[in-house]
Amino acid sequence: MTEPLLSIRDVHKGFGGFKAVDGISFDVPRGSIAGLIGPNGAGKTTLFNIISGLYSTDSGEVILDGVRLTGKAPHQVFGSGLARTFQIPRPFPAMTVLENLMIVPRPQAGEKFWNNWIRPGAVKAQEEELRAKAEQVLAFCNLTQVAGSEAQNLSGGQHKLLELARILMADPKIILLDEPAAGVNPTLMRDLVDRILELNAQGYTFLIIEHNMDVVMSVCDPIFVMAQGRLLYQGNAAGVRSDASVLDAYLGETI
Ligand SMILES: Nc1ncnc2c1ncn2[C@@H]1O[C@H](COP(=O)(O)OP(=O)(O)OP(=O)(O)O)[C@@H](O)[C@H]1O
Ligand SMILES: [Mg+2]
Repeated sequence: MTEPLLSIRDVHKGFGGFKAVDGISFDVPRGSIAGLIGPNGAGKTTLFNIISGLYSTDSGEVILDGVRLTGKAPHQVFGSGLARTFQIPRPFPAMTVLENLMIVPRPQAGEKFWNNWIRPGAVKAQEEELRAKAEQVLAFCNLTQVAGSEAQNLSGGQHKLLELARILMADPKIILLDEPAAGVNPTLMRDLVDRILELNAQGYTFLIIEHNMDVVMSVCDPIFVMAQGRLLYQGNAAGVRSDASVLDAYLGETI
């Protein structure tokens, strides 16, 4: 077995006396599309908040590709190669779609002011490279036709694609998506799923929280099931569907 890309080790998080995440451990294999499911309030988003550095852990640790993420700030976690979307996408509303892609943080020669003096040619070349990459990513995400529109004028589904596009600009090792299918029409959802599968074939690893069981069961393996802050089950789609505790805690209501 190869090293897991992302390792969650006995993570705990309480709010007051309430244990939102109560000793979660699991491994996301490199190259997988892993799913994280469970009832409302199970602690899934809280776990994402911990993984991405937004919340501190009470105990336990998160390891990405052999590097400890625990204790790092969100931008440091992002810099280590982990990118997530939020349930509510947050691009800069008054900037265009293309501009929103161009400003995603990544090492840029232009940001070091002396480069402008010493190597203006290199800065220009890098900007052109960045623009070319942004245009490629926009085409991949079917956003070329709205490249010049302000982000605030996009539809809900296009916002989701923009979030994915912005993540792709950063070349992360793993992409965390929190309910990508929520509020997205069926056509766009298939589009989003196709993009995810295509990116996965290119080597991207995903960890996806999703309530849409068609999406989860058709693309995710392994699937982790959380309930009341704990890991209830882990396995593939067939295993999840036939596990009595999962049916009881979650799927009984949805399938
Ligand atoms: N910052 C916070 N302060 C207090 N309680 C919180 C905080 N964040 C989350 N919680 C609580 O932790 C529990 C788990 O919430 P979380 O958002 O992680 O659930 P979830 O599994 O993502 O649910 P859903 O499927 O509805 O999005 C909830 O009871 C929630 O109220
Ligand atoms: Mg949530």
